[in-house]
Amino acid sequence: MTRPSAWFYAQKFLLKRLSGIALPKPKSILSAQRHSSFVTTSSPKRHDSMANTTINPPRDPNTLSNYNNWRTAHTTANLEILFEEQRLSGNVVLTLKSITHAESKEIFLDTSYLDISAIKVNGRSAEWALLPRREPYGSPLRISLDTGIAAEQTVEVVIYLSTTSSCTALQWLTPAQTSNKRHPYMFSQCQAIHARSIFPCQDTPDVKSTFDFNITSPLPVIASGIASPANPTVTPAPSTSSLYKFHQPLPIPAYLFALASGDIVTSRIGPRSIVATSPDQLSACVDELSADTESFLQAAEQIVYPYAWQQYNVLVLPPSFPYGGMENPIFTFATPTIISHDRQNVDVIAHELAHSWSGNLVSNASWEHFWLNEGWTTYLERRIQASIHGNDAWRDFSAIIGWKALTDSVEQFGHDHEFTKLIIDLKGKDPDDAFSSIPYEKGFNFLYYLEKLIGKDRFDTFIPHYFTVWKGKSLDSYDFKATLLDFFVGDKAVTESLAGVDWDTWFYKPGLPPKPDFDTSLVQPAYELADRWQTLTETNSPSSSSSSSSSSFKPHPSDIHPLSGNQQVVFLERILTLPQPLSPAHAALMGTIYSFQTSRNVELSSRWCQIALQAGDRSCLDAVRGLLGSVGRMKFVRPLFRALMRLDRGLAEQLFDTNRDFYHPICRAMVEKMLRE
Ligand code: BES
Ligand code: ZN
Repeated sequence: MTRPSAWFYAQKFLLKRLSGIALPKPKSILSAQRHSSFVTTSSPKRHDSMANTTINPPRDPNTLSNYNNWRTAHTTANLEILFEEQRLSGNVVLTLKSITHAESKEIFLDTSYLDISAIKVNGRSAEWALLPRREPYGSPLRISLDTGIAAEQTVEVVIYLSTTSSCTALQWLTPAQTSNKRHPYMFSQCQAIHARSIFPCQDTPDVKSTFDFNITSPLPVIASGIASPANPTVTPAPSTSSLYKFHQPLPIPAYLFALASGDIVTSRIGPRSIVATSPDQLSACVDELSADTESFLQAAEQIVYPYAWQQYNVLVLPPSFPYGGMENPIFTFATPTIISHDRQNVDVIAHELAHSWSGNLVSNASWEHFWLNEGWTTYLERRIQASIHGNDAWRDFSAIIGWKALTDSVEQFGHDHEFTKLIIDLKGKDPDDAFSSIPYEKGFNFLYYLEKLIGKDRFDTFIPHYFTVWKGKSLDSYDFKATLLDFFVGDKAVTESLAGVDWDTWFYKPGLPPKPDFDTSLVQPAYELADRWQTLTETNSPSSSSSSSSSSFKPHPSDIHPLSGNQQVVFLERILTLPQPLSPAHAALMGTIYSFQTSRNVELSSRWCQIALQAGDRSCLDAVRGLLGSVGRMKFVRPLFRALMRLDRGLAEQLFDTNRDFYHPICRAMVEKMLRE
């Protein structure tokens, strides 16, 4: 089926919803709705004060805002970046629409460690209070209105504020912490619930607002909106500040609010794309990203529908950026570790760009349904890869790497752990603590299973339909189920297949899902090389030392040449899970003979370091020290600390102390927690 018919179905679906014909509620909705009792039960005081105005319990338990009474329609952030003081200062204007049947008299917003000086409602000073902090959600801000506001009416709230040194969303780098040591730098990371530490907001993915950014800074600014053509283009002298304006015409949740400022220059990498980074990194970034960015966009457009955000740009951040990538609209924020000089890590770009549909246009309604963002994005990312290579073996290759990450995460949490479910219970919890590969990979496997079940051609007609129906909106897993079932109502064969789906097991059973039969052709060469290394760990008798192996395998630099970077990743992961670790000497040999030790691809050097640490090869410690002092991406930092702690806890603590200021607040907190365990 082609796109017009998907569009037709989308209209039909919307009409049905608007005309009030209820979709059949899946059985699992009932049990899940019972789960989502109001988060405020832990604080009777606030619950009482909100009970009068709250009609339905919100479906997001990780916000303290009363977003079922009000919806943010537009947000204007008028903020000055004060590098010396390491804070943002100014005001934020929220246009809030009353959506209750009764009149709304109180507004509750999320805040965390903010310094608020005054609030105006419709131009007049308002009465407000910051209520006591409730971990991990922050301090609700209560604004009391003189008169009740009827449904559909809006109020304009201006909040004068400054961020504080406890802000969890911002990292401030001194000139000494940047690559060319000349200027300070700041950047934000708001997902999942850190936007509230920049400005008071309804910090839930269930609410979307359009945005204006008016940002004053002495250095170039990037934000998650379209830059005004009037913005300064030449780097001004850092002693004077300039105004940078951006507009985001599509409604986005607060977690997609993003800012960065520093010594940033840009260059084109595609017809609708630029890359931004520090001047010394620019040409390497252009080389790494120009070949693929536009092809990825076009591949995604073929699978879903045309790109909605006008421009797709990438900001390559300083090395302390804690994630691989963050899908901030207009500007994906990316770790500099994707600039590995071999174009082997551009899958991160395919992933972040796929979020332009899954996550940014169509968003999970709460972090309990995070798989709708990440599982769908992982699915699309792999479809993009398969489409670029013209071969489905490529997506299975990536899916096999993902399966390994999934099993590792399940092992780490434990097979019965709540966070190994597709839909998780986050009441009273911090979504950052639940972060793992599980929503990505269990989510991917669920969609892969559905695709195989009903057939790829049919699933392909559902994709544009789903992204049309939910465009600009947020949904939960039950909406997803209803949309899928509804779309195929007239198709008897598909309906019969879907009747066999055990939804409750997929949604609520902890642990691993059934393992699909992936095409292993691309991992095979990596497994074979790992098998040869394994022979080095097998000894003649159990009592003899591993150096007295009977193996005839003689490692040679050419062993690795036929393998792509990602096949080398598979090889290293396989080595990490051998029943017997390598001997220290063999681990060291692997590092030098295959040049892992000095590789600019951190996916390789960090995994080799893990192998060497596991083997007890202390000659790797310089490399470990180097990595932990130059890379702040949590994907690498956490496993390295974990492995180092097993070998030498004192050194792990010492390295953390040395690098704590280099790490992003989120990464710092994670490692600190790990070291305490
Ligand atoms: N949205 C995530 C990053 C994220 C998730 C930040 C949750 C904060 C809370 C992003 O799209 C992502 O998945 N990044 C991955 C990239 C990878 C899967 C290609 C990462 O950072 O490793
Ligand atoms: Zn993602």
